[in-house]
This record gives sequence, structure tokens and C-alpha cells, in this order.
Amino acid sequence: MRISIPAETDLSETRVAATPETVKKFIALGAEVAVQAGAGKTSGIPDADFAAAGATIMPDAASTLAGADLVLGVRRPAASALHGVKKGASVIAIMDPYGAEAALAELAQAGVSAFAMEFMPRITRAQAMDVLSSQANIAGYRAVIDGAAEYGRALPMMMTAAGTVPAARIFIMGVGVAGLQAIATARRLGAIVTATDVRPATKEQVESLGAKFLAVEDEEFAQAQTAGGYAKEMSPEYRAKQAALTAAHIAKQDIVITTALIPGRPAPKLISADMAHSMRAGSVIVDLAVERGGNCELASPGQTITTENGVKIVGHLNMPGRLAATSSSLYARNLFAFAETLIDKDKKEMAPKWDDELVKATLLTRDGAVAHPNFQPKA
Ligand code: NAI
Repeated sequence: MRISIPAETDLSETRVAATPETVKKFIALGAEVAVQAGAGKTSGIPDADFAAAGATIMPDAASTLAGADLVLGVRRPAASALHGVKKGASVIAIMDPYGAEAALAELAQAGVSAFAMEFMPRITRAQAMDVLSSQANIAGYRAVIDGAAEYGRALPMMMTAAGTVPAARIFIMGVGVAGLQAIATARRLGAIVTATDVRPATKEQVESLGAKFLAVEDEEFAQAQTAGGYAKEMSPEYRAKQAALTAAHIAKQDIVITTALIPGRPAPKLISADMAHSMRAGSVIVDLAVERGGNCELASPGQTITTENGVKIVGHLNMPGRLAATSSSLYARNLFAFAETLIDKDKKEMAPKWDDELVKATLLTRDGAVAHPNFQPKA
């Protein structure tokens, strides 16, 4: 059984899909592991560390992939990049398949079984495989660090011989995995933290982290959480009330971090241009939702802009990739936890159980066809 880790082809991707730790674990399961030279470089993992863990370092993608039974990636590889893998090989990555139907069809034609890690069900058995959580957690942390770095003042209150420095005020909008880590990080750095969400369950979570909760708590709020634990898209009336409540608050904040998302919808617009302009010079907005359309009207993907009145709006893409060593180590463990379930440990070969709920939820292509129900051709 040969497991291949080619270097990521998207040059903006700094993470890697395996670490020396997971390489050792795959070898212990009876696999041979091939890693493309330089694959770990931007995650701070030299080839020598992979080699010391037992991997074979291959000079290029073609030699890395030759004869592979299993290919591990961070992002979806192009089918054209998978020449040479075994017939029916499995490919596991964050596949980002929506709007990529043509790429999916090509993966199907290439005859591989492609698995999308981000489709892993959020059930107890699959918690160790939850890449959305492992990466959102890092993104939430890094958003505070980036916000603090752009902010020209200190975060904690300091009482010094030269006088007192006031604590910074940080407001977190959206309290899922990223938002909770952002609250915890901002608190550790000594800021005065407030947070908002539309799901009632978050109120207690915010307060348990020592932050203050702020939200329009009406009847719609009481119904905002879906059975799956996600937010619904709120009505225009609710959003108007929410904007009225948060506008005055945002004007008094030093750093605002937005993380609000709704599954299958564009990110909700929570900060208008006027709200951004109401903040004082030197304040910072970090928009973690920028890849999904942004929570802040002025945020620009991949850019940090400064408004005329001196407010910085940070729109970094791939926030987990800005802490690549940590996010890779967690992502690689998520991958190992899932890949292990696809391996027959006695025969030491790939043996996905096609009726397993984790396989059914994540499998995009198999046997030359698109397998996932969400991507079937429309009748
Ligand atoms: P997400 O990334 O989909 O959204 C982030 C946050 O934005 C959510 O808390 C959402 O309520 C909030 N939001 C949406 N619209 C908003 C608005 N207009 N204003 C303010 N906030 C708004 O969420 P994430 O991080 O994926 O978490 C979703 C749920 O999944 C949570 O209930 C979380 O506890 C749960 N979860 C369960 C796991 C498990 O294994 N059982 C693992 C991780 C999360």
C-alpha cells in the first residue's frame, strides 16, 4: 500500500497534508509513504524530517504519485495531476466542490475515489476528523494575533510609572469554533471582550469564557439554531434590529473580528461602510468570512485596506495557512484519523467500507462517476 503526499500545487497554500508524526503512523499500518521534495517547506517541515520518519522523498509530483493507492492533499488536486496513481486510488483533501462540477467530473473520469474532508459529519465518532473545527480554531486564534499586530496600541491594561494604558476593546461577531477561540485568545491577551451571535446557545458559551454577550434576543433569535447546530439566515427585520444594536457598539471598539457564516449562503453582511467609518483612527476590523463574501462591506479578499479615517480592514485569505505548522499538524492528524478507517489493517491495503456513514458523507467520485448526491446531474 503506497501513500503519496505531493506538494500542493496552489502556491498560496502553505499547509501540508502529512507530518513526520502521521508518516510514522501510516508506516506502522504497513504503508510505504512517498513525500514530494519540499512539500513540507512552508509548514516548517524539512525533507530530512519526513525521511527520518521513514518516508521516501521523491523529486517531483509524477514520481511521488506513481503507483499510489492513497493520495493525501490539503486542496483538491487537478485530475491531470494524478496521472500514474493506481486504478481506483483514493484521494483525500479539502475538495471545495461547490461550483467545481467540471473538476469533479474530471476526477471521476480519472477513476479515483475522491473524499471531501469538509463533508465529514459532526458526530462523536468523527470528531478527530473534523477539519472545519481544527482549521477554524487556528483561524480564530490567528485573527486576534493579526488584529493585535495591525492595532497600534497595547491590548492589556498596563499600569506603569509613566501612566496607565487602557485595555483594548475587542468585539467578536459570530461565535462558532473560530469565534470561541478568538474570544479566548483576546481574553488571554488582556482585552475587554464582547461577542454576538444569532444562536441562543452561544450566550452561555460567551459568558463562560469571561466575555459579555450582546444580541437582539427576540423570538426569531430563539429559533435561529437549526437542528444541525448551525445558524439560519435571519429576516431583513432581524438584521435591521441587529445592525441598530451593534452599530453604536462597534463605534466604541478598537478591534472587531467577524466570523459569521451560514451554511450554503453568502456570509451575512454585519458591518456596513458607515459602521466601519464610525470607528476611531487606528482601529482594526479582521474579516474571517472574506472568502465567503465577507461580513464587512469594505473587506477585500487578500488585502488589508485603510479607510480614509484610518480604520484598517484585514481580509487575509487562508487564515489557517498563516499558522501553517500548527494547522498542518492538526489537519494531518484529521486525515490520519479518517484514512485509518479506510485501511484493512490485516491485509495492509486500502479497503473503504462503501456503506460506512463517514464514507457516504464524504465520497465525491467513485468508479468513473460522481457519487455524491449533491452533485448529481439535474434531471
Ligand atoms: P459557522 O462557521 O457555520 O458559523 C460561525 C458562526 O456565525 C455561527 O456561530 C453562527 O451562528 C454565526 N452567525 C451566523 N449568522 C450570524 C449573524 N447574522 N450574526 C452573528 N452571528 C452569526 O459555525 P461553526 O463554527 O461551524 O459551528 C456551527 C455549529 O457546529 C456550532 O453549534 C458548533 O458548536 C457546532 N460544532 C459541532 C461539532 C461537533 O463535532 N459536534 C464540532 C464543531 C462545531
